[in-house]
Amino acid sequence: MINRRKFINASAFTSLAALVGKKAWATPEYETVKGKPIVISTWDAGLNANKGAWGILGKNGRALDAVEAGVMVTESEQSCCVGLGANPDREGIVTLDACIMDEFFNCGSVAFLERIKHPVSVARRVMEKTPHVMLVGNGAQQFAIAEGFPLEEQTLSPDAEKAYREWLKKSEYKPVINIENKKQSAFAPSRLSTGEWLPGGQAGNHDTIGMVAMDSQGNLSGSCTTSGMGFKMRGRLGDSPIIGAGLFVDNEVGACTATGQGEDVIRMCGSHTVVEFMRQGFAPEAACKKAIERIIKIKGEKVKDIQVAFLALNKKGQRGSFAIHKGFSYAIKSHDIEMLVASKSWFL
Ligand code: GLY
Repeated sequence: MINRRKFINASAFTSLAALVGKKAWATPEYETVKGKPIVISTWDAGLNANKGAWGILGKNGRALDAVEAGVMVTESEQSCCVGLGANPDREGIVTLDACIMDEFFNCGSVAFLERIKHPVSVARRVMEKTPHVMLVGNGAQQFAIAEGFPLEEQTLSPDAEKAYREWLKKSEYKPVINIENKKQSAFAPSRLSTGEWLPGGQAGNHDTIGMVAMDSQGNLSGSCTTSGMGFKMRGRLGDSPIIGAGLFVDNEVGACTATGQGEDVIRMCGSHTVVEFMRQGFAPEAACKKAIERIIKIKGEKVKDIQVAFLALNKKGQRGSFAIHKGFSYAIKSHDIEMLVASKSWFL
């Protein structure tokens, strides 16, 4: 079946080729690499998450399965900002947001979900078992329970309990995310004799794990999961569960995920914007940079107080990222490499 884009590309191409009297050429960004799976994910937690994804990608499995399995690793880890062990909202309750998207524009999302360990898997069920894209709050929880997900205890992890008690002393509402990272220097990854890669410095307080992958068939998928901003206003949602903001996949072009101040990603449809820049021919890093420039233009001086980073992969298996401030890192795994990369940023 010839899809519309291929048809348009083919006809535009034929007339252009006739016009210039030259041989046809392919737009590089639309080439597909097969047999070279790759997974990339945000922050240092991405190293472990990528291992989870590689259990599937490395055996020629589907990217969709890989991005679910990958971020489930992080959802199970004790961290400030992903999964049930994460920091709560300002009422002391952990609420989780997640989404997932495959190579066919199928997508699912959950937000404001409590007491469910793997929101990304609930998001996948929303995608596969309902006619909807997004379920929130009690409805999302009821759906999860009906789908057999256990309802976990409503407790805080020891770290989150400590952080919440500390926050309660002032109860200062500071809706900013990741700004700590701008004070941190970029770090070089190091390799242990076991072959393991470790970050050379502190990645700091990350907020989200976003993952995009290409499987051995050359198909793309992505996932994103978070507890959102620590001590947030009850009911606040960031970009992570919003398709087009925290995550977007167009299997003809590329995939992108975002991390950082969700509000500023939502207002310019961040991940979708990056994919559209890749469609125009920009390589992943350049596409991420252009989207960051747009945020900088929108925010003006206030950009000094926020962190946002985009991480993208195109159909050629090329990857890249760009952040507002330094300190953002991402992890890569393929047959050839396994490492953590310090992202380029606008402010050095
Ligand atoms: N990027 C995660 C959030 O803003 O909630």
